[in-house]
Amino acid sequence: MANSTKRIVLVSTDKTFVQDSKAAFASSDLIRLATVDKNVVELRGEIQEADCDAVIIDMDAAKLEEIEALQRITRRLEGRAPILVVTQEFNAAAVRILVQLQVADFLVKPLTTADLVRSCLRVLQGKGREQNSESQIYTFMPAAGGVGCTTLALQTAFQLHHSVTRGASTCVVDLNFQQGACAEYLDLEPRFDITEIENQPERLDRQLLDVMLSKHASGLCVLAAPTRPSEMRSFNADVVVRMLDLVSAYFDNVVIDMPRTWFPWTETVLLGSNKLYIVTEMTVPCLRHTQRLIQAIYETVGKEVKPNVIVNRFEQRMFDNGVKQADVEEILGDHFVGGISNNYRLVREAVDRGVPLHEVDANANVINDLKRIILPEEDVAGPKKRSFLDLGRSLWRKSA
Ligand SMILES: Nc1ncnc2c1ncn2[C@@H]1O[C@H](COP(=O)(O)OP(=O)(O)O)[C@@H](O)[C@H]1O
Ligand SMILES: [Mg+2]
Repeated sequence: MANSTKRIVLVSTDKTFVQDSKAAFASSDLIRLATVDKNVVELRGEIQEADCDAVIIDMDAAKLEEIEALQRITRRLEGRAPILVVTQEFNAAAVRILVQLQVADFLVKPLTTADLVRSCLRVLQGKGREQNSESQIYTFMPAAGGVGCTTLALQTAFQLHHSVTRGASTCVVDLNFQQGACAEYLDLEPRFDITEIENQPERLDRQLLDVMLSKHASGLCVLAAPTRPSEMRSFNADVVVRMLDLVSAYFDNVVIDMPRTWFPWTETVLLGSNKLYIVTEMTVPCLRHTQRLIQAIYETVGKEVKPNVIVNRFEQRMFDNGVKQADVEEILGDHFVGGISNNYRLVREAVDRGVPLHEVDANANVINDLKRIILPEEDVAGPKKRSFLDLGRSLWRKSA
C-alpha cells in the first residue's frame, strides 16, 4: 500500500449504497474504503479507533437521535478527520444543523458514485464546505420588480470572473424559471431543460450540466431555462439543491439571480449562500418592503446569512422631498452596503446590444459603484478617482 493512500471509513447499513461505494473505490490507488455496518447511533468508538483520513456517515439527518450521535462523533474526532454526511432526508433544518456541526460536506441520496468520489477527494484535500477554497455563492434577491436585480447579478458575475483575487471560473444561475432574463441580457441561448431532470434530479451530472450551460464569449457560464410565458412552472426543491450542489462543485464563484416569489426552496438557497444581496430602490414602498424581506430572512435562516442591501438607481436628491441617503441609512441600518448610480443610457444600450455593461463603457459609474461593494479590495476607482456618487455623499455630509 502506497504511503499516499488515504483511508476512508464508511458507516452505513444501506447494503446497496455500501456495495456501490466499494465498487466505486475498488480501482482507486488513492483511497481505501473500510466499512462499518452500523447505524450512526450504534457506533461505540469505531471511528476514533480506525485512524482514518475521512469518514462518510450515511444517516437520516431528520432524526434527532442520529444528529445527536453525529454531534458526539464530531466532538470526539476533534477535527482529526473530516466528516462527509450522506443523508436521505433533506430539509432546511437538517442543512442548518449540518452547517453548524461543520461537517466537511453533505450529499443527498440518491447520489451517483461519481458525486461521492468527487466529494471524498475534495474533503481529503481539505476543501470542505467551510473552507474558502470552496466555491463562493453570491445570491441576489430583488425587493420589487424591475429594481435591477438581474443587471447587478450579471455585472457582479463578470467582475468576479475577471477578478484577480476571487478565483477564476464563474457561473450565473438564473432561478427565475418562469421569466428569466439572464440569457437574454447576454444574447445567449438558454439551455437548461428542467423537464429532462424534473423527476430524477440524480440524472443531472457533470456531463448533462455541460450540455445545459450557456457559455458567454468571455468564458462566463450561465445556467438558465428557456422562458415560457404561458406556463406556470413549479419544480421541486431537490432539483434546485442538486443543481446548485453540482454548479458549486465545478465553479469558483456562483452568482444566483433569485425570483421575487418566495418558493419552498428559497430557504435552502439562502442557507447555502456566502453573500446575500437584496437589490432595492430609493422609494418608500421599496425600502419598506426591503425591511420586511430582511425580517423574513432572519425568521427563516436566523443569523446564518446577513442580508446586504444594494440601493440601485441611487440618487442624491439634496434639494427635493424625495428619499435621501439619511433615510436609507435610517431604514436599513448596517444592512445598507452601497448605492449604484442611475445610468439609463448605459444600461439600456447594454441590454439592447446584449452585451455586459463594461463593453459599453469600462469606466462607467455603475461598474465602479458595484465593484466598491463586491470587490472592495480591487476597487479600481481608488480613493483619488471618485465618482459623482461619492462627491454627492460628502457634499451631503458637509451640509448636514
Ligand atoms: N443602475 C441603473 N440605471 C439605470 N437603469 C437601470 C439600472 N439598473 C437597471 N436598470 C434598468 O432597469 C430595468 C430592470 O432591470 P433588471 O435588471 O431586469 O431588473 P430585475 O431583474 O430586478 O427585474 C432594465 O431596463 C435595466 O436596464
Ligand atoms: Mg430579473
